[in-house]
Amino acid sequence: MTADTHPDLPAPNSEATIGFIGAGNMASAIIAGLISANWPAHKIYASNPSLPKLERLTQKFNIKTTQSNQALAEQVDILVLAVKPQKLADVCSQIKSVDLSHKLIISVAAGWPIQRIEQNLQQQLAVVRTMPNTPAFVGEGASGLFANSRVNQQQKRITETIFNAIGTTSWIAAEAQMDTVTAIAGSSPAYFFLMMESMITAAVQAGMSEKTAFELITQAMKGAATLAQSTPNKSLEQLRKEVTSPGGTTAAAIASFKSNEFEDIVRKAVDASIQRGKELGQLN
Ligand SMILES: NC(=O)c1ccc[n+]([C@@H]2O[C@H](COP(=O)([O-])OP(=O)(O)OC[C@H]3O[C@@H](n4cnc5c(N)ncnc54)[C@H](OP(=O)(O)O)[C@@H]3O)[C@@H](O)[C@H]2O)c1
Repeated sequence: MTADTHPDLPAPNSEATIGFIGAGNMASAIIAGLISANWPAHKIYASNPSLPKLERLTQKFNIKTTQSNQALAEQVDILVLAVKPQKLADVCSQIKSVDLSHKLIISVAAGWPIQRIEQNLQQQLAVVRTMPNTPAFVGEGASGLFANSRVNQQQKRITETIFNAIGTTSWIAAEAQMDTVTAIAGSSPAYFFLMMESMITAAVQAGMSEKTAFELITQAMKGAATLAQSTPNKSLEQLRKEVTSPGGTTAAAIASFKSNEFEDIVRKAVDASIQRGKELGQLN
């Protein structure tokens, strides 16, 4: 897997229309990113069963909306499936009569293999399966992308443009690795939140105000990630050792982590997430 960061977004394909089935949190985040990246609003569509979400999107971004998934699927060149996994079978049965063979299908639905999407749509299609994460809501997402063999280079580039609008993108070599993407990127903001919550609890117990602890800890985590990304010539181990003077305060904390088998705790958690992803994939 290679991280592929594009600070300068390529110009969106001004000819392409993009439509989102499901106008919830993830669709709204991607639409906001596309608008910021100068994708023409009149080439963005969204469909949703209830009106309020569509009205909000129209008011905020002036995009086109409809309550008909079928009308949207007929209209657009790029179709983003942005409903909860348990709703995807219904959506597929509503749009399967539309000829989707010349369109790019992008799924953000967790746990749905591409083959199952094609089976439900009863067509062989160019499909990209993606797994973004919640930092996408502030333009700092990390999205894993997997394309089937029918997706061409231009469609890959346009997928990168779309997901680079909400953060960074990494192409995944094998679809089976999407469960790992979920475990280390889709779910991992929660692990980092847990780490920060635990550190705030410790700081408050040591007498610090929660507000000050929050400010220091969130900035330290953000700063550590930025430092790691901006010094690719140094390994994470090297960066860690640079903070860790022998016999010092950091060394005491690291020794405590190690004696409590921190690495084993993390490995087991990631394995548990991968395993659960596989189970959910079979249930869908
Ligand atoms: N949020 C994340 O962090 C995240 C990360 C990675 C992937 N994803 C994936 O992104 C997808 C969407 O997640 P989300 O967080 O955006 O969920 P969400 O906020 O609940 O949005 C889903 C939207 O789909 C609409 N919907 C339900 N049935 C529909 C139908 N038959 N046709 C069209 N629209 C329909 C819902 O409308 P109503 O509310 O009116 O029913 C809702 O607006 C999920 O598959 C999830 O696995 C989410």
